[in-house]
Amino acid sequence: MRWLRSATLWALLAPLSYAVVDDPAIEAAPYHKEFVLFRSANMASPDKLSSGIGFHSFRIPAVVRTSTGRLLAFAEGRRHNNRDYGDINLVYKRTKTADNNGDSLDDWESLREVVGSGPGTWGNPTPVVDGYTIYLFMSWNNGSYSQEGNNRLPDGTITKKIDTTWAGRRHLYLSVSTDDGNTWSKPEDLTESLTPDNWAWDAVGPGIGIKLTTGELVVPAQGRNIIGRGTPGNRTWSLQRLTGAGSEGTIAQTPDGRLYRNDRPGDGDYRRVARGTLAGGFGAFADDTGLPDPECQGSVLLYNLADDKGPARTVFMNSASKSSRRAMRVRISYDGDAAKWNFGRELSDAKLDVDEVGNEGGYSSMCKTADFKIGALVESDFYNDGNGEGSYRAIIWRKFNLSWILHGPRN
Ligand SMILES: *[C@@H]1O[C@H](CO)[C@@H](O)[C@H](O)[C@H]1NC(C)=O
Ligand SMILES: *[C@@H]1O[C@H](CO)[C@@H](O)[C@H](O)[C@H]1NC(C)=O
Ligand SMILES: *[C@@H]1O[C@H](CO)[C@@H](O)[C@H](O)[C@H]1NC(C)=O
Repeated sequence: MRWLRSATLWALLAPLSYAVVDDPAIEAAPYHKEFVLFRSANMASPDKLSSGIGFHSFRIPAVVRTSTGRLLAFAEGRRHNNRDYGDINLVYKRTKTADNNGDSLDDWESLREVVGSGPGTWGNPTPVVDGYTIYLFMSWNNGSYSQEGNNRLPDGTITKKIDTTWAGRRHLYLSVSTDDGNTWSKPEDLTESLTPDNWAWDAVGPGIGIKLTTGELVVPAQGRNIIGRGTPGNRTWSLQRLTGAGSEGTIAQTPDGRLYRNDRPGDGDYRRVARGTLAGGFGAFADDTGLPDPECQGSVLLYNLADDKGPARTVFMNSASKSSRRAMRVRISYDGDAAKWNFGRELSDAKLDVDEVGNEGGYSSMCKTADFKIGALVESDFYNDGNGEGSYRAIIWRKFNLSWILHGPRN
């Protein structure tokens, strides 16, 4: 195979400290673009819904490419502050056409809403593409409640702590689009069938679900995978319980065909990883000591299987630090089971081309674009808004290719 003969020079130059793989992508030109895709009400040219409603902060991104090639970028639009509770709407942007691949801000439509009714908390966007149907899972709770309780809302009332009652618990919702994200169905409450026991707190994703080579859909969620069986657009949902899974999980089908969960550490310094199958279940979760993490969310994506152009590649992004969310890094694994990750490249190697950006880093989501690039949404934390509500949050769109990752510093 051609790629086995190429890239020998880089193999010679690469240090021995990590797995050396001949990746012909290093020989091609690097590509990188970046801009702010979700602009908070405190920024110039803020994003607003057509109703005129703007948002103090955008957080919790998720991005998919639909079967037409269009990109759909989702986020939580936080109305009054950057907090995890209170009035939060599920918002999104689409690329204007199915084939522009989102290279510039001009390629994206203006802000829209999937759901935002009432003062409740609509969040944790977790889309999965199923032919020409897009399923969007979400977590919701009543706006009078919050995870810890005792938080002050803008009207002065104090939140109750999330509890196990129907009114006080987190709910799982599903909305569906069959027109490439143009419209969305009224969200259906699936808590009863897809949230085990009487959990008080729950979280789906946040991030993306996947479609397996055998056709099933798998959506990562707290303590479980949500499985969609049936045919595209006509799915029956069930649960796969996972012992030891984190509250925020990501999933990929690795090149070996198995399922790979890579979860946020609950109380530790490294990503928590487990492998399994739908039929055989999962092994125990264990630290991946090659992937430090500051107890934050991350994102994983199967980029390609091995072919005559190159080796199989799985891509992972998180803040590669035990203590800071500001060390965003993207890595490649060439292993069938994503056992080892290369050093990768820090996103900060490509400076953001905007004056107002504060500190980039936090939650992220990745998709593969139709022009063979990686599109990534990355949270950023901007300057204090002066209202005692702390910093405001915006979401950056970065688009790069494998060559850009491989051209990074190799320490
Ligand atoms: C990266 O993008 C550049 C510019 O579009 C292209 O020339 C190159 O082939 C790409 N590399 C890979 C591995 O796709
Ligand atoms: C939220 O909870 C409050 C009481 O705590 C209740 O009055 C209100 O109807 C609930 N809202 C929804 C949408 O369930
Ligand atoms: C959806 O699947 C169910 C069984 O899984 C089947 O009974 C039903 O006819 C299907 N509906 C459509 C519209 O295909």
